Amino acid sequence: MNQVSTYLEQHKDRFLAELIELLKIPSISADPAYQDDMVKTAEFIKDKLIKAGADNVEICSTNGLPIVYGDKLVDPSLPTVLVYGHYDVQPVDPVELWDSSPFEPVIKKTKLHPDGAIFARGACDDKGQMYMHVKAFEAMLSNDALPCNVKFLLEGEEEIGSVNLGPFLKENKEKFSCDVILISDTSMIANDVPSITTGLKGLSYLEVELTGPNRDLHSGTYGGAVGNPINILCNMIASLQDENGTITIPGFYDDVLIVSDAEREAMNKAPFNLDEYKTHLDVNDVHGEKGYTTLERTAIRPTLDVNGLWGGYIGEGAKTVLPSKAYAKISMRLVPNQDSETITRLFQSHFESIAPQSVKIKVTPHHGGEPVVTPTDGIEYQAAEMAYEKTFGKKPIPQRMGGSIPIVALFEEVLKAKTIMMGFGLDSDAIHSPNEHYGLFNYYKGIETIPYFYQYYTKLKK
Ligand code: BES
Ligand code: MN
Ligand code: MN
Repeated sequence: MNQVSTYLEQHKDRFLAELIELLKIPSISADPAYQDDMVKTAEFIKDKLIKAGADNVEICSTNGLPIVYGDKLVDPSLPTVLVYGHYDVQPVDPVELWDSSPFEPVIKKTKLHPDGAIFARGACDDKGQMYMHVKAFEAMLSNDALPCNVKFLLEGEEEIGSVNLGPFLKENKEKFSCDVILISDTSMIANDVPSITTGLKGLSYLEVELTGPNRDLHSGTYGGAVGNPINILCNMIASLQDENGTITIPGFYDDVLIVSDAEREAMNKAPFNLDEYKTHLDVNDVHGEKGYTTLERTAIRPTLDVNGLWGGYIGEGAKTVLPSKAYAKISMRLVPNQDSETITRLFQSHFESIAPQSVKIKVTPHHGGEPVVTPTDGIEYQAAEMAYEKTFGKKPIPQRMGGSIPIVALFEEVLKAKTIMMGFGLDSDAIHSPNEHYGLFNYYKGIETIPYFYQYYTKLKK
């Protein structure tokens, strides 16, 4: 392992330069205009996997965007680690709020990243975190220190729900057979408070369209006499949560697994400063379901949020109009044992039932995903815990998160293997937001910690 550390130190600058090259390619999966860049990104990764020493490297085509595969199978009697990550990124808008161009990476120091952070779309989510695995693999292989088999599964559709990866996984079960799935696509508490992600939320996402009159009307002539779809939609949305922040959709909580008091107590012992949290977000107060702390609200309680709301006149100045249509995109984050299809159905029938006769309603479900909780009493967790202890000098804290990675639940189901999520980002790294960044400390610490996971896991598996 000493040689691996020396190698990392010697190749630090190149590792960063390569990540910068990767970040320059605008791999936005949501926008078909970037199709060629998606392929270019897949090819870039393929090339780097080959250079790192991987075998069987290929770009697998699906009905959607390509998947990059590669492996190093050193000995069938040794365990196999499947590394999952995604090379697609979120759209950049609102682009005017970026201090530098999203695909021209720059390194700047910040309060939380005094050693510097790299600013670019995808820096943390997930190109930076995914690429740590490619470099850790290179370091192990170059020093004869790869203790087990490894497979890479790097996809380009995570940010759009991984809809084609599920079927591909099911059709290629053997190809991806493994003992453990390793993912770096989440965050940790702080650079001096390492944590392991032990849960993700599921997701149900819908779009609603309300239609009132057959055309926009004069709001004086018709106002007060004809249903305004925007007014009505706002009322309908407002009724989805009561004064305690409880979601009012009948049956919504039926399958929610109750978390024990002991578990909640442990969860709330994690370092968390509410004042700093508020200061960081520039809000005077937090908001959420009554009876739960901020940590609990994000980790163990299902939530409902409007992601977008539009309709009517939004141009310069004032135009008096009673709009014909109103739209909203609404998401619900789910916890074990809620099921995304069931929740989508419950939402749809409830929302249709509360719409007044004066409007027509159309509800369109989008992609979803199931929640996951990973165990803390298995060798996967133990190996990761030991790895963090080695490189951070302290025990990591288990933490469930509010984000979703749709394929994780399917990994368990199809591959019958456990997932370990070693996230190295910070919640403040602005993923999906303008000025996304990833700390250089985090990038290098990740590359340093990953080989220890391989080593300890292989030992414990024997
Ligand atoms: N890496 C994130 C998920 C995440 C972020 C988990 C932070 C934990 C902490 C992932 O790329 C993501 O953004 N997922 C989407 C879901 C998808 C279906 C669009 C999400 O959570 O909104
Ligand atoms: Mn991600
Ligand atoms: Mn994301």
